[in-house]
Amino acid sequence: MGNQIINRMLKLKSRPMMDDVSSENFELVEEEVRDIEEGEILVKNLYLSFDPTQRGWLNDVPSYIPPVQIGEIMRAGSVGKVIESKNQNFSEDDIVQGSFGWQEYAISGEGSGFMPPQKLHEGISPTSALSIYGITGLTAYFGMLDIGKPEQNDTVLVSGAAGATGSVAGQIAKIKGATNIIGLAGGPEKCKWVVEEAGFDSCIDYKNEDVAKRVTELAPNGLNIYFDNVGGSILETALENIAQKARVVMCGGISSGYTMERLAPGPSTIFNLIIQRAKMEGFIVIDYAEQFPHAVMELAGWVAEGKINYKEDIAEGLENCPDTLANLFKGKNFGKQLLKLSD
Ligand SMILES: NC(=O)c1ccc[n+]([C@@H]2O[C@H](COP(=O)([O-])OP(=O)(O)OC[C@H]3O[C@@H](n4cnc5c(N)ncnc54)[C@H](OP(=O)(O)O)[C@@H]3O)[C@@H](O)[C@H]2O)c1
Repeated sequence: MGNQIINRMLKLKSRPMMDDVSSENFELVEEEVRDIEEGEILVKNLYLSFDPTQRGWLNDVPSYIPPVQIGEIMRAGSVGKVIESKNQNFSEDDIVQGSFGWQEYAISGEGSGFMPPQKLHEGISPTSALSIYGITGLTAYFGMLDIGKPEQNDTVLVSGAAGATGSVAGQIAKIKGATNIIGLAGGPEKCKWVVEEAGFDSCIDYKNEDVAKRVTELAPNGLNIYFDNVGGSILETALENIAQKARVVMCGGISSGYTMERLAPGPSTIFNLIIQRAKMEGFIVIDYAEQFPHAVMELAGWVAEGKINYKEDIAEGLENCPDTLANLFKGKNFGKQLLKLSD
């Protein structure tokens, strides 16, 4: 029967190969929203989250969650407003987050998608729920605290330092007593923000400076922690500069582009882990899901105390989703990349 609401959505049409993901890979489809069933909610999407990992979901390979299939709506974390509910846990006008995808409306029962819908915590705005209190803020939190384990007076190097995850990771290290936080970011404007707004002690503009030379200058006694968001040659340089008992947090390898054809090569400096008795550990943030509520509370405390500053970059328009995703790999985003679909 339908309820006469027309939903616009982007379905995967073809898999991007070496090329950037583009609107060519998606089909814009309009469909009437069906009636919801017992247990379901109808959500109007307000903001979509853009995450480099979404590029990986377009490759037809096994990963930590299944790839998006041809013909499926592109998967994405988002925040929306409940406009109809047949689920006792949700009411009309609730603001919820979940995996509602690249579409204007989503029908979602509890347990659907890879993130079941959840009401936002009190006092948390729709955008901050996807940025500082979303996957990227939480990734910084667990990666830095559980794997990086910052100690008093540590020297910490963070790549992707102007990005959603990296900027928060460095600030958390500082909160925990590290005293020499070095960022890496692309361009003078981003580096300025990393130092002046995110409070890092220094920032290397990896696009315009000699990274190896600058790391040795800024970390003469070596790196106690390297929080890696990029992989590739920067990881090689970082490993060359680790101190004894260093912790290398393997968070992401965006320099690979997350395409199937361009997997990041292993770093040639990896044996320095042996010489320096160091550790390198990867993680996937969703494994910490049970601890998310506590982490959100602690992050909120730090934000309220002015100890964490964060930035959001908000695009608009459903049709701009593919380009917005591609832009993450070109460094065009400045802060957490979101896309607004509705007020
Ligand atoms: N392990 C997990 O559970 C988990 C969860 C979330 C995210 N991550 C990873 O965390 C990293 C950051 O993700 P995010 O969502 O916070 O994105 P982000 O840092 O806000 O945005 C991506 C940034 O990566 C940088 N970049 C792009 N291409 C690069 C290249 N070739 N070399 C160096 N830097 C490059 C760009 O900054 P510049 O302009 O400075 O180059 C760009 O702004 C990604 O690797 C992501 O996959 C991991």
